[in-house]
Amino acid sequence: MKRNINKKIVIEVNNLRKSFNGNIVLKDINFKLFEGESLAIIGASGSGKSVLLKNIIGLLTPDNGSIEINKTNIVNLPRVQKENLLQDLGITFQHGALFDSLKNWENIVFKVKNREKLSNKNAEILALSIIKNLGLEPKILNLYPSEISGGMQKRIAIARAICGNPKILLFDEPTSGLDPVTGSLIDKLIITAVKTVGGSAITITHDMSSVCRIADKVILIDNQTIGWSGTPKQMLKSKNSKIQEFIKSTNPNLFK
Ligand SMILES: Nc1ncnc2c1ncn2[C@@H]1O[C@H](COP(=O)(O)OP(=O)(O)OP(=O)(O)O)[C@@H](O)[C@H]1O
Ligand SMILES: [Mg+2]
Repeated sequence: MKRNINKKIVIEVNNLRKSFNGNIVLKDINFKLFEGESLAIIGASGSGKSVLLKNIIGLLTPDNGSIEINKTNIVNLPRVQKENLLQDLGITFQHGALFDSLKNWENIVFKVKNREKLSNKNAEILALSIIKNLGLEPKILNLYPSEISGGMQKRIAIARAICGNPKILLFDEPTSGLDPVTGSLIDKLIITAVKTVGGSAITITHDMSSVCRIADKVILIDNQTIGWSGTPKQMLKSKNSKIQEFIKSTNPNLFK
């Protein structure tokens, strides 16, 4: 994805360290996300990718380090201020995390409906306009998450994340478990969201084709820290053993 990158920093992580009961999961994590930039985070299962994302959104607190969102350090920020900052973020979790008791359209518009005081009718129209780009049929809007497939739930979660055009998008494995056609629909949507809204995205993924389509920059989490970073092009040509090993294990056909 080729674009000019505006150099305003929207997320900056410095010296992040996170452990659970003495077991270090992440240490010395430093990176910046710029406005208009799409960053992919890759790494083996259990390497700490989701933990990193949960630290960024304040669901977990790092042992050390700072996480600045639009220049405000969210670590130890009072709850109300943190929630205000997070209003600017669209997030999907690895395991969906939809509200079971709300219909799909209510899930999609959850944040925006209250904020913009939308009527039910207008909120439904908004939800409809979003799912059209996700290969979902309108009739599922009035069903509950438990009444649709896992792949559809995943797309409802993505619709919820992008609803209201948040400036920062964070996706944890948005295409895993989806067929390739739907996966590339999601990729296109991430590209569009970053390009047209002038936003920025962090996407955790195992799918190297997806990385090449969506990312300006790639970070490999390995051995508790950033083991490698560069562009997708550099990644494919890299002689770095960690990168080669990771790509070979996930997408063997990409390395020739
Ligand atoms: N709340 C928690 N309490 C204790 N340990 C945790 C907690 N959350 C994550 N971990 C541990 O942190 C490590 C990293 O987990 P994480 O979910 O970030 O991996 P991941 O890179 O996202 O893997 P995957 O690709 O399988 O999703 C794992 O060893 C996990 O068991
Ligand atoms: Mg994960």
